[in-house]
Amino acid sequence: MIILGIETSCDDTCVSLIKVKKTKGKLPQFEIISNIVSSQVDIHKKYGGVYPTLAKREHEKNLPILFKKTLKKTTNNYPIDLIAVTTGPGLDPCLWTGINFAKKISDHHKIPIVAINHIEAHLIISLFSLEKKSLTPKKNLSFPAIGLIVSGGHTLIVLIKKIGDYEVLGETRDDAAGECFDKTARILGLDYPGGPAISAEAEKFNLAMSRTKFGIKLPRPMINSKDFDFSFSGLKTAVLYHYQSTPIKKRKSKKYKSEMANEIQESIIDVLIKKTLLASEKYRIKSIILGGGVIANKMLKSRFEKESKKLKIFFPPEKMQTDNALMVAVTGFFKKTTSLKRIKAMPNLKLFSK
Ligand code: KG4
Ligand code: ZN
Repeated sequence: MIILGIETSCDDTCVSLIKVKKTKGKLPQFEIISNIVSSQVDIHKKYGGVYPTLAKREHEKNLPILFKKTLKKTTNNYPIDLIAVTTGPGLDPCLWTGINFAKKISDHHKIPIVAINHIEAHLIISLFSLEKKSLTPKKNLSFPAIGLIVSGGHTLIVLIKKIGDYEVLGETRDDAAGECFDKTARILGLDYPGGPAISAEAEKFNLAMSRTKFGIKLPRPMINSKDFDFSFSGLKTAVLYHYQSTPIKKRKSKKYKSEMANEIQESIIDVLIKKTLLASEKYRIKSIILGGGVIANKMLKSRFEKESKKLKIFFPPEKMQTDNALMVAVTGFFKKTTSLKRIKAMPNLKLFSK
């Protein structure tokens, strides 16, 4: 079986093609035929965030080009058995672009189509490791598991009873963790997206000084609340106040930026780890599955490895933390097909439970 994946929920146009190789074990193995991500970062940089109508226009321009390139990787013309397309959550005009494109191919070539939840796809890709040109299932996965999804648009903790069966335990009440990285980076005059920029600054602090010069101490919002909810907008405000009350010469210095970046990163990681481990204890689980762009953060990865003790942590494969269509195609394998008529954009789609 060959699955085509299409992802246009935000600002990356992504098309992938995979072949299901072995289905003997619990999870299959996939051969990656093609995986293209066309990033729009340079276009949205000047706005400090994603500009939906611009993103839509770019998706419309990119999709046919990416699809043509994808087909070139195969020998026959339409070797596709299933089309998996992200239908939500995401930006409405962006989602529709991918959906309409997928529907057209499905209708014209009579290929079954399946609607994919972007959040679920971020989780499922972490169950595989990338070896050469294939995705192989990781070992020692046990259910129920705890999932933590942290991206530019989402921050939630879920109890995963099995693939497709989820219970959301908690989520952010305001900004997502990635959004907090992006917004605080903007305050500090750092690049977009903010996550990698803050991470690079924090690394400088850790490598060069590791000692505080400005005594910056930020709050750890909701770290001691007994639930699994998050809140990151107060952290952003705390950064803004500190920045505004620091003399210009100081706050523009390299040392201020890197110390503040380190404290932002530590604050976000402290909260994410504490709540994820709390959920793991409460539900006595052995596997933690992490997904979403923020998981690309190196410090978060190393601290999770250190602090989770005997738990088995499933990180997304390298370069698959941020949006891609491979995760969409892979998730398509596990889902029932949808009728063409019922495929539509669902910008606020939740990670539903069965
Ligand atoms: O999953 P993703 O590509 O898109 C959404 O579904 O939102 O996540 C993008 C988010 C952005 O907010 C970006 O700043 C953050 O992931 N991000 C990072 C890192 N790389 C990307 N955050 C922290 N550290 C990173 N290294
Ligand atoms: Zn995403």
